[in-house]
Amino acid sequence: MRAEHIRLFEGERVPRYTSYPTAPHFSTGVNGEEYAAWLAALTPEARLSLYVHIPYCRQLCWYCGCHTFITRRADRIAAYLAQLEAEIDLVAARLPAVMPVIHLHFGGGTPSIIGARGMERLLGHLRKRFAFLPDAELAIELDPRMVDGELVAALAEGGINRASLGVQTTDPRVQEAINRIQPVAQVAAVVARLRAAGIDHISVDLLYGLPHQTVATVRRTAHEILALAPDRAAVFGYAHLPRLKRHQSLIPEQALPDAKARAAQFEAIAESFERAGYVAIGLDHFARPGDSMARALAERRLRRNFQGYTTDPADALLGFGSSAIGELPAGYVQNHADLRHWRREVLAGRLPVARGLRLRATDRAIRVVIEQIMCFGSVDLDRIAAVQGVARPLLAPNEERMQRLVALGIARFDGTRITVPPENRPLLRLVAAAFDRYLEPGTQRHAVAI
Ligand SMILES: C[S@@+](CC[C@H](N)C(=O)[O-])C[C@H]1O[C@@H](n2cnc3c(N)ncnc32)[C@H](O)[C@@H]1O
Ligand code: SF4
Repeated sequence: MRAEHIRLFEGERVPRYTSYPTAPHFSTGVNGEEYAAWLAALTPEARLSLYVHIPYCRQLCWYCGCHTFITRRADRIAAYLAQLEAEIDLVAARLPAVMPVIHLHFGGGTPSIIGARGMERLLGHLRKRFAFLPDAELAIELDPRMVDGELVAALAEGGINRASLGVQTTDPRVQEAINRIQPVAQVAAVVARLRAAGIDHISVDLLYGLPHQTVATVRRTAHEILALAPDRAAVFGYAHLPRLKRHQSLIPEQALPDAKARAAQFEAIAESFERAGYVAIGLDHFARPGDSMARALAERRLRRNFQGYTTDPADALLGFGSSAIGELPAGYVQNHADLRHWRREVLAGRLPVARGLRLRATDRAIRVVIEQIMCFGSVDLDRIAAVQGVARPLLAPNEERMQRLVALGIARFDGTRITVPPENRPLLRLVAAAFDRYLEPGTQRHAVAI
C-alpha cells in the first residue's frame, strides 16, 4: 500500500458497512409495534436467519469492543436465558407461520457461558418455534478458554456445524497486554476436540494493531494458526476507542502500532494466508478454496451482514437478545443494548426494540451497490438500477470522492462499472463511502476500525 493510502486510512472515518444505512443512523422512529407488523408481513415460505446474542463473559479482554458484561453469577445467566426464550416466543407469535431457518448464529459475549445444558435448552426451544432446514448452517462464536468436552458434545448433538474461535494473537507478551492469556496449545486442543465431534467447519478471529504487535509477531501467529488448518480466518484491525469503551484505557497506548505499522501487519498476515493457498475475501477474510465462503465469492453469492461476510442466503435476519440487530425486507431493527430496558420490555410482553430504520427504494438500491463493492470489489451501476427499478442518476457516486479515488488509483470507474484492484482490498470501504448518502463530511460518528 502506498503512503498516501495509509494517510487515507488514518484520516477517513468511514463505516465498515455491515449494513447500509449503517447503525448510527437508526432512530427511535421504528419501535416494537412496527417490527411486529414487519414480521407479520413476511411470506411464510421466506427463509430466515437467526442471530442470538449472549452478552456475558467471565473475564474482560481489555481491547473488547463487543456488547458484553462480565459476570460470574450463574443466576444472572439463567435469568437471561429464560428471558431470551420469552423473546423468541414473542417474535415467533408474530410470524405468519412456523418459518424455515437456513442459518443460525450464536454471538456475544461468550455464548458458551450458558454451558452444555443451557445450549441444549436454547437449541431445543428454537427448534420448537422454527423449522430448521436440513442444510442449515448452525454457527457459534467460541472463546477457546471456555470450551470443555461436555459443551462440545452438546453442540454436536444440537446440530452446530460451524465454530468460530476467538484467537486474536498467540504472542504471550501481546496476550498479557490485552488481559487474555490463551496458549496456542489450548486453541489446538479445542480445534481437535471440535473436529473429533464432527464440527469440522472451523473459523478463527485474529487481530492486528494490538499493543506490542509487530510484523514479526503477527507472522508467527499466522504461522501457528495455519498449522491448525482452519477453513476460514477473519483478520480485524483493533479499534481503539477508549472514550466509548472505557476499559480500553487499560491498553498501554504507547505500545500501540501506528497506521503505517498496522497496514504492514495486515499485509504480513494476508501474505501468510495467501501463500498457504487461502483465498482473500473482501476486506478482511481468508478461506480455503473448498470452503463455502470461497465458493460463494467465486459464484458471486457472497453477502455482508451484521456478522460480517457470510454465505447466508436468507430473506430476513431476526435478532434475539440485548443489542441484537434484525434486517427485514422493510428495514432494520435493533434491540435495547441496556439489559434492564431489554428485560423490562420482554417481561411486559413487548418486542424489545430500541430503534431502527425504514428502508426507502433508493436505500435498498444503494445497499446492493455497497454490498457488492464490499464483497466483490466491483459493481455495475446500470445493472443494479435496472434490477432494483430505480432511476440510474439516483445511484451516482459522490463526484468529488470518486475523482479522488480514481486519481489515487484506488478504484477505476468507466461511468457505469466500478472496479477496485485486489491490492486495494483494505480500502474497499472508502469506495463504498462514495455512495453513502448519510455520510456527513468530516463525520465522527463511525469507528475507525483499521
Ligand atoms: C464476540 S467476540 C468472539 C467470541 C468470544 N467472545 C471471544 O472473544 O473469543 C468477536 C470478535 O470481535 C473482535 N473484536 C473484539 N473487540 C474488538 C475491537 N476493539 N476491535 C476489533 N475487533 C474486535 C475479536 O476478534 C473477537 O474475536
Ligand atoms: S473479546 Fe470476547 S471474550 Fe473477550 S471480553 Fe470481548 S466478547 Fe468477551
